[in-house]
Amino acid sequence: MAVLLSTKAATMAMWRDALLAVDPTLEIRLFPDAGDPAGIEAAVVWTAHDMAELRRYPNLRLIVSMGAGVDHLLRPPGPPPGIPVARLVDRMLTTQMGEWVLLNVLRFHRQDLDYRAQQRDRVWLELPAPVTAERRIGILGLGELGTHAAGLLRGLGFPVMGWSRRPKDVPGVQGFHGPDGLAAMAARSDMLVCLLPLTPETRGIVDAKLLGLLPRGAFVINGARGAHVVDADLLAALEGGQVAGAALDVFDPEPLPAAHPFWAHLRVVMTPHAASITIPASAAPQLVENIHRARRGDAPLNLVDFGAGY
Ligand code: NAP
Ligand code: GLV
Repeated sequence: MAVLLSTKAATMAMWRDALLAVDPTLEIRLFPDAGDPAGIEAAVVWTAHDMAELRRYPNLRLIVSMGAGVDHLLRPPGPPPGIPVARLVDRMLTTQMGEWVLLNVLRFHRQDLDYRAQQRDRVWLELPAPVTAERRIGILGLGELGTHAAGLLRGLGFPVMGWSRRPKDVPGVQGFHGPDGLAAMAARSDMLVCLLPLTPETRGIVDAKLLGLLPRGAFVINGARGAHVVDADLLAALEGGQVAGAALDVFDPEPLPAAHPFWAHLRVVMTPHAASITIPASAAPQLVENIHRARRGDAPLNLVDFGAGY
């Protein structure tokens, strides 16, 4: 039985080699050269793969996402009925996202947008000193990524809050959950960091209502999915000064069209969905372990909960 690998052509060989380095006995077929559909037992896929296509494989036992997010796999028509989906929880993914969040929290906390503007204009002006202990940071999503980022920020001395679906106790982090918790946390968040999965409940969550609850002059940092943010509402909040700056790694659609106002906005800092990039050699042991589990009939690691949507 074989593993179907489907990702960008440029990285396909690197992924194949990383999987084979862990288990040289694997037979790996590179999409679209799937060969006999009956020979495919597992599919390792990324965002572009069409879930309808996976219905061609009668002996498929497992679908594995090459990333942490699975919104691309769950959107209609979704995975073939009865086939489990596993996502990636990976130390290097988590580390990179923590670094990206820190980079942007510190950028805004240390008034870097203002100092860069002053440099452009050759202005020598000291701004008021920022006080770490007074800069409250609210994190939407206290999962693998959110909990790690919260720990890093706590380590620097920021007061950190986190919002999750279910009540959660993370040491040193003030926890909130549910709709009331969201409003309460937003009202105290001088910086709002989004690290949520994209689900029907979280789509468009960073909208005019939520932005309006933030303290005036707050910052928004989105490392999750572009569709969490209502772009027009964020732009209006930036224009009106309710939001003082935004760091965005993810967009809807991607790539962001060249005419989109974010590109040229002086208070928006963009990265091209590069906050945290899966490194095949780091992810491969977990992917192979899940392929072995599927063969044994065991539940995969990091199984996606279809009901919750992540
Ligand atoms: P995770 O471990 O599944 O954590 C998700 C968190 O969000 C959990 O705390 C969960 O609450 C919370 N949540 C989910 N739905 C919610 C709701 N309706 N209301 C309140 N809280 C809710 O996910 P992760 O590994 O941290 O990854 C998060 C997302 O980051 C991924 O889904 C992906 O979209 C994105 N990501 C982006 C990049 C990038 O490069 N930009 C890289 C990797 C991942 P519970 O704790 O109660 O379950
Ligand atoms: C990247 O966006 C991921 O979900 O891993």
